[in-house]
Amino acid sequence: MKKKNYINQIKEIPIAERRYINKDYLKLKKYFLFLVPFLILFLSFTGLRLITNSKISSLANTYIQTPNNLDQSILGHLPYKEISKEKLVNIEPNIQVHIDMSESLLEMRRDALKDGIYLVFLSGYRSINLQKDIFYSLKSMRNQVASERARVSAPPGYSEHSTGFAIDIGDADKRETDFEVQFENTDAFRWLKKNAAKYHFKLSFNQNNKNVDYEPWHWRYEGSIEALKVFETSNRNLQKAKDVKN
Ligand code: DAL
Ligand code: ZN
Repeated sequence: MKKKNYINQIKEIPIAERRYINKDYLKLKKYFLFLVPFLILFLSFTGLRLITNSKISSLANTYIQTPNNLDQSILGHLPYKEISKEKLVNIEPNIQVHIDMSESLLEMRRDALKDGIYLVFLSGYRSINLQKDIFYSLKSMRNQVASERARVSAPPGYSEHSTGFAIDIGDADKRETDFEVQFENTDAFRWLKKNAAKYHFKLSFNQNNKNVDYEPWHWRYEGSIEALKVFETSNRNLQKAKDVKN
């Protein structure tokens, strides 16, 4: 009886088992171990290159964008290209303007006349060469340094007049106020202030200008896409200045 119990207590003896390791698996493992250092090297190299490239491209962006970010103005005037001759039309023997604005300008003068106001056109398109003469000869005649002259006259290549979209206007009944701040006290100016926007004209240099003097006689046309494009930077700057003020 005792013996039987003893046999029952014997635990199961584990039987040795022969396991066959897959040879392909071993080979793969070897290759993998062999490749790991190369993989690490490759990934670090690629990562490094990505970081360097992104740094270079952000640097490049900085340099490419810099010219746009720069204030391109000179003595408070923005650069303007000269209009091509084909786009110019004569509205008077000595006055040429951009074809886009000629009709609107003439219509404005007709409507002003109906209200008893006689607008005189004093200066329209001016070539860059003419602007050069105005800027440099008057500057030297008046013994003015460039910054002083630039308060009343744009340097060549920087005048709205060269775009054909600017017009200087006087009052036929008050010629003594031509190109003078006193023009603002004329009926012509009062009429323009009230009505010019209907014809897409806007005063370019108001009393708030920092570098350019107030010119109540100088109006620019913004009634076509081309004109709007030409004055886009100027309008953005005006908006920025307003935002800063507010
Ligand atoms: N008088 C304006 C500033 C011009 O010369 O364009
Ligand atoms: Zn002008």
